[in-house]
Amino acid sequence: MQLALLLVAAYLLGSVPFAVVVSRLFGMADPRSYGSGNPGATNVLRSGNKLAAVLTLVGDAFKGWLAVFAAASLAPAMEISAIAAPAAGLAAFLGHLFPIFLGFKGGKGVATAAGVLIGANGWLGLATLGVWLGVAFTLRYSSLAALCAALAAPAVAFVLGLDAYWVLACSAMSALLIWRHKDNIKRLVAGQESRIGSKKKSPG
Ligand code: G3P
Repeated sequence: MQLALLLVAAYLLGSVPFAVVVSRLFGMADPRSYGSGNPGATNVLRSGNKLAAVLTLVGDAFKGWLAVFAAASLAPAMEISAIAAPAAGLAAFLGHLFPIFLGFKGGKGVATAAGVLIGANGWLGLATLGVWLGVAFTLRYSSLAALCAALAAPAVAFVLGLDAYWVLACSAMSALLIWRHKDNIKRLVAGQESRIGSKKKSPG
């Protein structure tokens, strides 16, 4: 019961759509109405407002980190098992993808997954961030950087010796993240994906 309540709280936290919230606070258009249509930092950046994009990135990452941190902190007192933190991280990630506050139509989960990974293990967060930065700065595709980081995350979690629940949670997040990027993958294959800094992109 305590675990169920924790997971509901983590899901609700993950459901907070910072791209939409920040855009409203800045008096900007809803990010679902332009660019890729994705409520995420990369798409908010296409508005040209870098501060709004950074705040979206930080907010979406923070909620993932907070879900894991809170679960890991509460788990011993609640006498629930080691599954609490990875399950809460996954619940927050699912909240971002399927947010109750946006009719279950959310984002692709990159920043939230980053926050969850940082909460799980600092080295895991650093390694996957390194993969993202390496691809993003060399090839300038945010989506490709996220896909490469998603492929790396479960392997890094395993190599670092994180427990099986974390390796499973990372694998599930990676699979969902890759699935959410299916339109990006089609555009990458077709040579039509927009690069970081470009404002051109059709919805999808
Ligand atoms: O963070 C999401 C990114 O990987 C792709 O976003 O807007 O280019 O579809 P977008």
